[in-house]
Amino acid sequence: MGLIPQRFFYFWPMIKCILNDKIIDQDKAYVHVSDLALLRAYGIFDFFRLTGLKPLFFDDHLTRFMSSASTLRLPCPLGYDELKAMILDLITHNNLPDSGIRMVLTGGESPNGFDIGTPTLFVLNEAINPLPQSHFDNGIKLISHEYMRDIPEVKTINYLTGIYKLAEARSVGAVDTLYHWRGKVSELTRSNFFIVDQYNRILTPAHGILKGVNRKHAITVARDHFEVLERDIFMKELGQAKEAFITGTTKKVMPVVQIDEMPIGDGKPGAVTTKLQQLYDQYLESAVGR
Ligand SMILES: Cc1ncc(COP(=O)(O)O)c(C=O)c1O
Repeated sequence: MGLIPQRFFYFWPMIKCILNDKIIDQDKAYVHVSDLALLRAYGIFDFFRLTGLKPLFFDDHLTRFMSSASTLRLPCPLGYDELKAMILDLITHNNLPDSGIRMVLTGGESPNGFDIGTPTLFVLNEAINPLPQSHFDNGIKLISHEYMRDIPEVKTINYLTGIYKLAEARSVGAVDTLYHWRGKVSELTRSNFFIVDQYNRILTPAHGILKGVNRKHAITVARDHFEVLERDIFMKELGQAKEAFITGTTKKVMPVVQIDEMPIGDGKPGAVTTKLQQLYDQYLESAVGR
């Protein structure tokens, strides 16, 4: 897979995808121009990694996908077990180790540009661009922005604000945006957010966020070693935080060392984050195939 540049990946003739209830060549897969996903950003998705050819946290991602679909009133053309079996077939067909699987369900071809149509399901097998090792070793800088995602507990396809803020983040050497709303921190554009307080307790918001699969597993791992509190975090608490970190499918556990102009703690990855990073990497190895 490393031989296929990512920009060719969607059109590589060998690569198959799922469209509705069939596995077809990916370069033949299209959605209609009247699909609500295109016209109104109405749709949901989920994304998981393969370790080798084995899905990581497959059931967690499928369960969240089905729950996002039902919250947005989008009937999925395949049931849970059918979709799972077809994705396993797709993985075998494509034989792309350490790639990613993106499941998308659109609002469908709308009769009037606003009513939900018959949703289109597609599942893509994508290259994963590795993140720079320096992000894991030295931590990342974030900008903050007051914003609450629409229906935040649903993994919608609407990333408008996150993509729009990317140029601004990069212009100040930051890699992503931390959202906050009415004084409370929520999440990043594509990750969950944690701080470590002066008592070495790990705190993470529980409301107004997407409940990340890695958030859940990182909390499980952390609870064996640290106290973990799921509660509101106020923007004004960030100044007293000793450490901060994020979790996500490609970020795993990644330290945050600066938010806007403010260093977190001493501006370096802290001991709790570094310990959890090691524990989580071990946990991911042991979780292969789950
Ligand atoms: C808005 C948002 N929050 C959090 C996450 C992290 O979720 P996960 O750990 O399931 O990748 C994502 C993942 O893309 C996301 O889009």
